[in-house]
Amino acid sequence: MTIGLDDVIAAETALSHVDGEAGRLIIAGHDLEALAGRVAFEDAVALLWEGLVPDLVHPRAVLGQARERAYGYLEPLGPQLAGLTPVEGMRMLLAGLPDAEVDHPTLAVGAAGVAAAMAVRGTQGLAPVAPDARSSHAADILRMMRDAPVSDDEAQGLDTYLVTVIDHGLNASTFTARVVASTQAGILSSVVAGLCALKGPLHGGAPGPVLDMLDAIGSIDNAAAWLDDAIVRGERLMGFGHRIYRVRDPRADVLKAAVGRLKGRGNRIAFAEAVEATALKVLERRKPGRRLDTNVEFYTAILLDALGVPREGFTPLFAAGRTAGWVAHAIEQSRLRRIIRPQSRYVGAWPAQAA
Ligand code: ACO
Repeated sequence: MTIGLDDVIAAETALSHVDGEAGRLIIAGHDLEALAGRVAFEDAVALLWEGLVPDLVHPRAVLGQARERAYGYLEPLGPQLAGLTPVEGMRMLLAGLPDAEVDHPTLAVGAAGVAAAMAVRGTQGLAPVAPDARSSHAADILRMMRDAPVSDDEAQGLDTYLVTVIDHGLNASTFTARVVASTQAGILSSVVAGLCALKGPLHGGAPGPVLDMLDAIGSIDNAAAWLDDAIVRGERLMGFGHRIYRVRDPRADVLKAAVGRLKGRGNRIAFAEAVEATALKVLERRKPGRRLDTNVEFYTAILLDALGVPREGFTPLFAAGRTAGWVAHAIEQSRLRRIIRPQSRYVGAWPAQAA
């Protein structure tokens, strides 16, 4: 029996494959490097959904219309965002959608993009910005979030990010989405459940804390001592380590390249690189044999920060990209018409024997 399900195969999927030893991620038959930064998010969604969602011939237009329709349902929920964090706000918005009208693959992805932007604004007391169906998904999310024009290189940066996180094997949130889908609860419920799992700091809630860590380190002269002290105190270095990857997470490289393409963003990337190199040395010394390396969250933090996204908005944006994967897994799983129902081993007390 494996507590934590390490190495247990719980599903067959044609969607993505993570090779943790080689540091390779295959999405819908393509290496990540062939998609991220090369194929628009909408086209990556169409590739991922091939055979699962019919008639996605013009994905950019279809997703644009989906954002507009979703906004009609989400906008009235805006006042309820007060007092919530953005990820709580996104959860509230998506959970508030009526299954009967919105339980559809493209609407779920459209709604996730709109909800991410609305949640970031609404939790700061700012009014929502309506979507523009003609825009690309990435450019529109950034514009709705900032209420300011978005440059082509910024839109490209977010697009690369959304494609990079679109799917990633049977990670915790995808497994959660599949469990919910296996009960035939519907696409929207699977997405909300996926978001709840993603929210935790051991999964998708880490990129904000990566920036907090960089801020706390302050300068490269301080890095070695700061990182060493953190590990000695028993803390985890945010943006490092992964359950599956035993080498560098390939998503880290793709995102690092995307940050490099953003012009005029100061020297945080140089600082981040220096901290990364120091952290790897410290981890090697303090955690020998553990094979800890940089994960997706490290350069996510640098990229989204460079795009002007507040750090509490990082997890909602992760969810906006990953929703396409959750939807695909939900459909793949629900087609099996078989509930996921593992066993537990009882270690509690037994009733006393009758005399
Ligand atoms: N910093 C310091 N030590 C670490 C780190 C880290 N980031 N990650 C793991 N370790 C250590 C553990 O303390 C443990 O050491 P020990 O054996 O001396 O106790 C050893 O490495 C193995 O750790 P596990 O907990 O078995 O690793 P697991 O596979 O369960 O955890 C996880 C993976 C949750 C990602 C972990 O590496 C972590 O907490 N990282 C920091 C948070 C983070 O970056 N999360 C984002 C992950 S990417 C994603 O989900 C999208």
